[in-house]
Amino acid sequence: MSDKKLWSGRFNEPTDAFVEAFTASVEFDQRLYRYDIQGSIAHATMLAKSGILTAAERDAIIQGLETIQERIEQGEFNWSVALEDVHMNIESALTEAIGDAGKKLHTGRSRNDQVATDVRLYLRDEIEIIRAEILRLQRALLTVAEREAETILPGFTHLQTAQPITFGHHMLAWFEMLERDRERLADCNKRVNVMPLGAAALAGTTYPIDRHYTAELLSFDRPGENSLDSVSDRDFAIEFTAAGALIMMHLSRMSEELIIWSSAQFGFINLSDSFCTGSSIMPQKKNPDVPELVRGKSGRIFGHLMGLLTLMKGQPLAYNKDNQEDKEPLFDTVDNLKGSLKVFADMIPAISCHRENMRQAAMKGFATATDLADYLVRKGNPFRDAHEIVGKAVALCVEKECDLSDLPLEELQSFSCDIQQDVFGVLTLEGSVAARSHIGGTAPEQVRAAIRRAKARLA
Ligand code: ARG
Repeated sequence: MSDKKLWSGRFNEPTDAFVEAFTASVEFDQRLYRYDIQGSIAHATMLAKSGILTAAERDAIIQGLETIQERIEQGEFNWSVALEDVHMNIESALTEAIGDAGKKLHTGRSRNDQVATDVRLYLRDEIEIIRAEILRLQRALLTVAEREAETILPGFTHLQTAQPITFGHHMLAWFEMLERDRERLADCNKRVNVMPLGAAALAGTTYPIDRHYTAELLSFDRPGENSLDSVSDRDFAIEFTAAGALIMMHLSRMSEELIIWSSAQFGFINLSDSFCTGSSIMPQKKNPDVPELVRGKSGRIFGHLMGLLTLMKGQPLAYNKDNQEDKEPLFDTVDNLKGSLKVFADMIPAISCHRENMRQAAMKGFATATDLADYLVRKGNPFRDAHEIVGKAVALCVEKECDLSDLPLEELQSFSCDIQQDVFGVLTLEGSVAARSHIGGTAPEQVRAAIRRAKARLA
């Protein structure tokens, strides 16, 4: 393939060899080839419909591009750094294959609207894949939630025992985070799915193009309203990365809990061997590498968000070469999101719960103290007084190293004569979770109802 630069007309001297490599993007933007070809086929089809190309030229272009796609997919395409990027590599190969008709493809178009179109087509597809992967993880969470709807563990605030909760309820909290993530991506896609093509370099083009037709061919919702904005806008990439940063933040929080829960000290869950690794020196080790790595990866995605914002902040309208720097962070965000979501969706159903350990842990730390206070309120005490009474009872238990439910009735009654035999039902873990039986509460029956609603939302 000829390496002759497509823009060499006004140049007398060859490009400096280092500059050529320094400014090239083909090494990473070649992954856009399918979208570049898809956009070019739509563009050529529109040019022919508008009488700018002949039908024969259009057909030669389309066939030529399809052959190039096959060559790329067979690994038979020779990418050239001298041809700078995916766009000029493909256009050069096309002209080499079909001659003059190939040289007409770029009529009424610029690489500026071309690249913006390619990236949007790419991201639109990836958003769909990522949303499907989130959905798979959500379904996995529902399966675990269903299985563990009655499993009791301590709920924490400040990582100190707070109140008993059900494990199913905890899984549903994660489900909600992911539901927002999936929604956010769908919303982001509304801004992604707008077509820059036809903006040309920055001002539009003198040819009688039909942007609505091209948009329809490419299933874009509409052509971009303003040519300057169309070639220079990367908000959609920033928005996507922000949504990705939130997803990674959520996965990182989940990771943190999985890591803590699977420690010998907590012993709440077992992560399947297939998602853990060993130590080269300590024979006993089984390390939660997968959640740790996902937690770690959140950092680079947050970095990409900051990188993209900074990339854009100093740019005057319209296109600037700076924009070439949008791709690597965007691609890396997509790759790591997909990987992290996939490994989570595979790992979550394989979690097993050590229900007895969770139960024992919930027995520690006076998890039902609030239930006792609520009991006293039901017997007519103002909540503040009830809080005070229970606080004193807890202090006694701390001293005696026992639980509230271990105190004999007479001793409990020394704090309040409103305490009767029925208090012991209130002090059990089961009584505590069952009592929180309203929408959004942790009672097993509410968890089951929430799972039913969640399934309906996903359907
Ligand atoms: N490789 C370039 C990019 O990724 C394509 C657009 C180049 N346009 C230009 N006028 N130099 O942004």
